[in-house]
Amino acid sequence: MTNSLKIGVAGLGTVGVEVARLLAEKGPLLAARSGRPVELVGVSARDRNKDRGIDLSNATWFDDALALARDPSIDVFVELIGGEDGIALASVTEALGARKHVITANKALLARHGNELAQSAEDNMVSLGFEAAVAGGIPIIKTIRESLAANCVTRVFGILNGTCNYILTRMEKEDLSFEAVLKDAQNLGYAEADPTFDIGGHDTAHKLAILTSLAFGTRINSDSIYVEGIEAVATADIKAADNLGYRIKLLGVAVATDSGIEQRVHPTLVEKSSQIAQIDGVTNAVVIDGDIVGEILLAGPGAGGSATASAILGDVADIAAGTIRTPLGRPAAELKQYQNARMRAHEGGYFIRLNVYDRPGAFAAIASRMAEQDISLEHILQHQDDQDVVSGRQSVTLVTHETLEENVRMALAAIREDGHIDNQPQMIRIER
Ligand code: HSE
Repeated sequence: MTNSLKIGVAGLGTVGVEVARLLAEKGPLLAARSGRPVELVGVSARDRNKDRGIDLSNATWFDDALALARDPSIDVFVELIGGEDGIALASVTEALGARKHVITANKALLARHGNELAQSAEDNMVSLGFEAAVAGGIPIIKTIRESLAANCVTRVFGILNGTCNYILTRMEKEDLSFEAVLKDAQNLGYAEADPTFDIGGHDTAHKLAILTSLAFGTRINSDSIYVEGIEAVATADIKAADNLGYRIKLLGVAVATDSGIEQRVHPTLVEKSSQIAQIDGVTNAVVIDGDIVGEILLAGPGAGGSATASAILGDVADIAAGTIRTPLGRPAAELKQYQNARMRAHEGGYFIRLNVYDRPGAFAAIASRMAEQDISLEHILQHQDDQDVVSGRQSVTLVTHETLEENVRMALAAIREDGHIDNQPQMIRIER
């Protein structure tokens, strides 16, 4: 009989409890598929006496996650503590150094320290599994790293934060303001009490940093990501986009350009007919453009106990089967230096919404500022019925052909300077 693979879980929140429960329930299936029994032998969390609704009496309790990480009784350390530094970093570092395999759902930790942790896993000849860190239950890590190994990826993008997609979907479907939906989401327990990390785009950025490295073979670089959240998206933007055949999504996009890699997180117009536009509510989706395979879209639950535990147990099965991969798809020492493309050099279409003073010459002046910057307009849409606009103003939406971000910013600065608009111009990028 093969020795069982012995698991220690640090962090017993929703995900940790689900992992513990499923290790018992799915143990026989995992053993059948991987060829080796798996068992939970150790757990660690803050409060030993809390009722978590499962029987953990067969697992040894550790008050200290570091002690669990180095304990000789475990083969695999599952880190579900969270946070980019502190005990999460210390315990994962400790476990790898003690030649334990590590599985983590911690995107912040990997975005910040992923290069060094991958190196340490390689040096110690153990696995560092992180399928659960990006898009929850969607098997995006294995897909890029393993299934698409022969492809050169030219672009990867996706809806990587369920909270933001939920808010944008309800704003669109129910004609509600950002503030109203956010409040409702918090009351329903969907959004964190402090939702800044989600709605500000930072959670998406952490996940994007990991995808970028896998897709382009570069060192993880989370400092160079351009990040805009969804706080400034208005229902007027969603309606105007709808009239023009688009939906608005918060996307994380990584794309190879002639001047380097763009990593950007921002509200984005996507064509209503595109696959990504169909993704509603808390669902996540990732699109990969591969040179051999073409375009692939994977969609599914991006968060929650079951989806995250599903990804973690997939990593457990790999380790049980004896598979050890270079965590970032190639040896950490051979990852390319990340070369950042400046956001001002971004080329694409732009959606621009302006509140224009209703007076002679205003439109002509705006059009001429656009022409000065060589910006060609695809659509101009005037909204007669925009209730958000006070009398004496016209709400106008412009959609540009492909143009340079630098030029759009210069044109908008000049339009503001001219005094024909009474708001901060809204500018949303289009992804085609
Ligand atoms: N807070 C994230 C979301 C899930 O709303 O999608 C965890 O990454």
